[in-house]
Amino acid sequence: PTVFVITPTYARFVQKAELTRLSQTFLHVPQLHWVLVEDSPHKTPLVGDLLAQSGLTFTHLHTPTPKERKLQDGDPSWLKPRGAEQRNEGLRWLREDRRAQQGADAQQGVVYFADDDNTYSLQLFEEMRSTQRVSVWPVGLVGGMRYERPVVEGGKVVRFHTGWRPSRPFPLDMAGFAVSLKAVLANRDACFDGNAPMGFLESSFLQGVVTMEELEPKADNCSKVLVWHTRTEKPKMKREDTLQAQGLGSDTAVEV
Ligand code: UGA
Ligand code: MN
Repeated sequence: PTVFVITPTYARFVQKAELTRLSQTFLHVPQLHWVLVEDSPHKTPLVGDLLAQSGLTFTHLHTPTPKERKLQDGDPSWLKPRGAEQRNEGLRWLREDRRAQQGADAQQGVVYFADDDNTYSLQLFEEMRSTQRVSVWPVGLVGGMRYERPVVEGGKVVRFHTGWRPSRPFPLDMAGFAVSLKAVLANRDACFDGNAPMGFLESSFLQGVVTMEELEPKADNCSKVLVWHTRTEKPKMKREDTLQAQGLGSDTAVEV
């Protein structure tokens, strides 16, 4: 089955670097369809050109986060959920596109929400390919811990290893689950709540799709870390700013 990967992305200094790394990981994954959704009022040439040259099967979408929901400069990063509208736009496209396709094959597939800054092992994509409804696995370097993970007993998820509000309906990171295309199509209204309080974004979607008892543990009963919640440092532009003030800034025609 095809893995449909939905990725929200937004313009910033490291965007091209992140998308280059991500696209070159995806090149090693068979039968992957990348749904890249820009947080922007229009599609940008930087992203469009990168996709066109990537060698991947892709769909390029865009939708801006409404101003009142967007993080402002200086806001702490956890204040508002990020990428919610973009993931919903990816889901909207997927549901519409699959309905238009004929045949039983159109319902075969797996949907994974891959942020543009995480680090993904190739093995993760093989693990998720057998997802019946929702599969889950550990995520490294997240939640202020070495890893968070579902705890598996007798082949079932019985609770979650997390340091923060384990009482959340699904206390796991976006990178820690995949959903079958069938379940996405059958639960037409399941989507991400852009107004969800901190830490409840994943739950807002999963509650409409699955129960805890139904979760399918992968990665050796959730004993292996195959994805890392890495975050890229924001580059400093101090010297650039200084030079620019003297009219000696870097050539803006060079895409970075
Ligand atoms: C954590 C989780 O790993 C995310 O999946 C979750 O969306 C986020 O918290 C949240 O609570 O909303 P974190 O590393 O803090 O992630 O978030 P980012 O990586 O900064 O953003 C998640 C995704 O949204 C990225 O793919 C990013 O490119 C995108 N994004 C971010 C936008 O599309 N617009 C923005 O303004 C910011
Ligand atoms: Mn991130």
